[in-house]
Amino acid sequence: MRLFFGLSLSAAVREEAERCARLLQEGVPGRYADPDNYHITLAFLGDVPEERLDKACAVLERCVRAHPAPLITLDGVSHFGREQNAILILRAKSDPPLDALHEALVSALREAGLPADDGPFSPHVTLARHAVMSSALPACEPVSQRSSRAHLYLSARDADHILRYTPLFSVPFAENGF
Ligand code: 2AM
Repeated sequence: MRLFFGLSLSAAVREEAERCARLLQEGVPGRYADPDNYHITLAFLGDVPEERLDKACAVLERCVRAHPAPLITLDGVSHFGREQNAILILRAKSDPPLDALHEALVSALREAGLPADDGPFSPHVTLARHAVMSSALPACEPVSQRSSRAHLYLSARDADHILRYTPLFSVPFAENGF
């Protein structure tokens, strides 16, 4: 099972992400993400045998319950990678920053003998992949949400071979919010 931990988006944040993606589509070719899949990745596990799913849930439970609910704010359209093959993103800033939670999740995954991607962490919503940067990026509104819970997502193709990110398990943060 291909797994990752992440945050879902509120309706207002998702609408702003969709608005930015529509503006981008007018001038930037690329493979645009299905808005149903919009999310903010907290930690990427990758392939995990199904019998270890319980361990992944336990890691999420332990780490998320020990962290306060973050206030997430959209912080501009940007891109990762090369201009000719870019990933278009909306940066997401957080108060408190998500770095401590990311670090805690990665260390807890390692301690549990589960895989964890340890690349640089930069919270974002992916809008498109394989984009060819050709025009100026649109401005985005600094829409905010208080995330009340984090999720363990399954990344899998459905019967029509469409990639879906499905929350399998959710854990509330230490304080309540959105
Ligand atoms: P992203 O849009 O936040 O980058 C499922 O594969 C999701 O996990 C992807 O949409 C991607 O979300 C995230 N992810 C993070 N690190 C990854 C990695 N090393 N390989 C694949 N996906 C990764």
